[in-house]
Amino acid sequence: MSMHTEFPAGFLWGTATAAHQVEGNNINSDFWVMEHAPGTIFQEPSGDACDHYRLYCDDIQTLKDLGFNAYRFSIEWARVEPADGSISKAALRHYADVLATCHEYGITPIVTLHHFTSPRWLMKLGGWESAETPKRFEAYTQAVMRELGSLIPYVCTINEANIAVLLRRMNMNAGAQSDGDSQAPIGVNADSAGGSFAAWMQACAQELNTPLDKLKTFLFTSTDAAQTLIRDAHARARDAIKSANPATQVGITLALNDVQTLPGGEALAATIKDEQFFSYLPACADDDFIGVQNYSRQRIGAEGVLPNEAGVETTQMGYEYYPEALEGVIRMVAAAGKPMIITENGLSTEDDSRRVAFIQRALAGVRRCLDDRLDVRGYVYWSALDNFEWVFGYRPKFGLIDVDRATQQRRVKESGRYLGNIARRNALGE
Ligand code: BGC
Repeated sequence: MSMHTEFPAGFLWGTATAAHQVEGNNINSDFWVMEHAPGTIFQEPSGDACDHYRLYCDDIQTLKDLGFNAYRFSIEWARVEPADGSISKAALRHYADVLATCHEYGITPIVTLHHFTSPRWLMKLGGWESAETPKRFEAYTQAVMRELGSLIPYVCTINEANIAVLLRRMNMNAGAQSDGDSQAPIGVNADSAGGSFAAWMQACAQELNTPLDKLKTFLFTSTDAAQTLIRDAHARARDAIKSANPATQVGITLALNDVQTLPGGEALAATIKDEQFFSYLPACADDDFIGVQNYSRQRIGAEGVLPNEAGVETTQMGYEYYPEALEGVIRMVAAAGKPMIITENGLSTEDDSRRVAFIQRALAGVRRCLDDRLDVRGYVYWSALDNFEWVFGYRPKFGLIDVDRATQQRRVKESGRYLGNIARRNALGE
């Protein structure tokens, strides 16, 4: 059987973006401040990004023309609530227009309410370690759902709720930061940015009007206390969504490596799976689906987390090129007994032919899972557009669509046509 006849009717075929990475000028967010603080570890600021705030209509039309039937994007809290307790009707209007455009083009919107960025004012109030933050997130969710709920069939409350836990462990093994600060995200190299990580953090704290030890942006929340708050924020948001529109399907998304156990690594592998996945399940018990996000595998041996084997192909991010990881992760997540949506899967590469091969192999894995009656409802590729890859700036290329940032011209890559064709043929049942 060929690939395009093998997926169930109604399967969601999508691509994803996140507001801060594509919209441009998210000036009221904590990340904007971090990008611009003296000694920043960011390779470059997000700036105009892909100007998607203005060009969303063309971009959604392109996705539709390619054959997709779903689009995952995020609503930006920093725009919707520019000051604590004050809601911007204009920002909500914008997202109403984005949602209406999706519906007009027959695209199912999958909305993320929090994708790493937070309003800058939240940092002054204790960020993601303040006991009040779950209630504030709930209030923002209520504001969104009140205005837009009837247009939103799917919500991912919090993107990669477990990301800080994942980064913490990667750091411990990779020793990625130069000054020993265990809060530093992976790959951050203060030396490359010409300043020390600690000095930059101090500058961020000053700009965000909070003491350094109270600076708790979302990516720096790996403590148990913060993780408890994140789970609480999710549960409150889910309940708010359900009471506004019971039909809206709600889930959280989790960053999940395919954890592979080698002899001697059994205990650590079990610990990692627990802290990255199983410990979230109680908070997701009343959810409709789990959002699965996967990029590679992690091999665990007697010595701990193992580095890539010599000579393996890697992506621009340094991860092993290993599309079969998605299948491994789906099989683990299936233990939760919930529908799954692959809300992110992809790779960064300049060689688009490697992207086509990656997608083909990842989908073959999804197909094997479906054959085994695992409940996968959709596949969303990260990302629709080449975009702002956080501290790494615009160099990593994850997109199905290339963006010339000088002109904001888009150019669809072969991989975009490839995945779009699979989507279209499946939808038509060909
Ligand atoms: C995030 C995206 C990011 C992608 C690629 C995920 O962790 O949700 O924002 O761009 O991975 O690194």
